[in-house]
Amino acid sequence: MKRHRHRRRPPIWLAIIGALVVLVAIAWAARESPSLTPDAVSSSQAAEGVGANASTASSTPTRTSPVVTPERRAMARLAMKKLRVTNGAGRKKLVALTFDDGPGPLTKQLLSTLNRLDAPSTFFVQGGLIASYPDVVKAAVRHGHELAIHTWNHPDLTGVYGDELRHQVYDTRDEIRKYAGVDPGLIRPPYGAVDDRVIRDLAPGRLVQVLWDVDTNDWQGLTSQQIVDHVLATATAGSIVLMHDGGTSRQQTLNAVEPIITGLRAKGLEPVTVSELLRADPPKEAAPPAPTVTAPSDASTAPTSDPASDPPEVYGGE
Ligand code: NI
Repeated sequence: MKRHRHRRRPPIWLAIIGALVVLVAIAWAARESPSLTPDAVSSSQAAEGVGANASTASSTPTRTSPVVTPERRAMARLAMKKLRVTNGAGRKKLVALTFDDGPGPLTKQLLSTLNRLDAPSTFFVQGGLIASYPDVVKAAVRHGHELAIHTWNHPDLTGVYGDELRHQVYDTRDEIRKYAGVDPGLIRPPYGAVDDRVIRDLAPGRLVQVLWDVDTNDWQGLTSQQIVDHVLATATAGSIVLMHDGGTSRQQTLNAVEPIITGLRAKGLEPVTVSELLRADPPKEAAPPAPTVTAPSDASTAPTSDPASDPPEVYGGE
């Protein structure tokens, strides 16, 4: 102010405009400067990414075409081997916990336990029950669990033919696609009952027949401690563990889940979904022939590296 005193007084409007310009410049500088630091830039970009994903997800709650994941493609390739898979080869310290016959009244509670323990699991669901638990199946997929086919209403498939067989399997698949937006790559035949004719008839669907190597018999009225003891005594790397979240009361199974997961981890075994297990640790029967002369190759990646064996993107069997 002091140095202006000796000058001629400027017009008042010029002073106001000058003051406004200074204020705008200060405000602009204050707004811009935080984003000049790398942290601020990356966190604002991250926030934008999350926001974009969230708004996309919420605006499309039901996808018209299901997501085809790398795991689904791997399962479609494995399905072409027409195996009855009971476990991974055991080259990786992974196990798969599976729950059959649901969704049921306790599935939601089971999911919250699995989510809290960060233990992705596989649910072999009955198609006829899905519409009664739409939020549960959506939440399962959202939290990284896998939905797979356990038929529409649990018949022995070795006695089911033609249109009824297609209904049991593909209508369940379509229900999973419709409610959860994913394309299931696995089927577990009820009672583990499957024969060559069923596998041949279902070949266009590119579904892996998944059985198990650890049977908890949790439906036979065992205590949760008996269930836990059996799993921890018998599960090894590559194991697929059979439990049930549908049917009659599954409280003992629910109670067993946390000690099972804790105990498996104490043995160095990490729970993953069945598709993740079979992709990372394919069954021995699915491995390519051993190389005869050259150095050993990575057998766990070799089966997925042949583009010639890629199945189509959309799997048939309508
Ligand atoms: Ni069952």
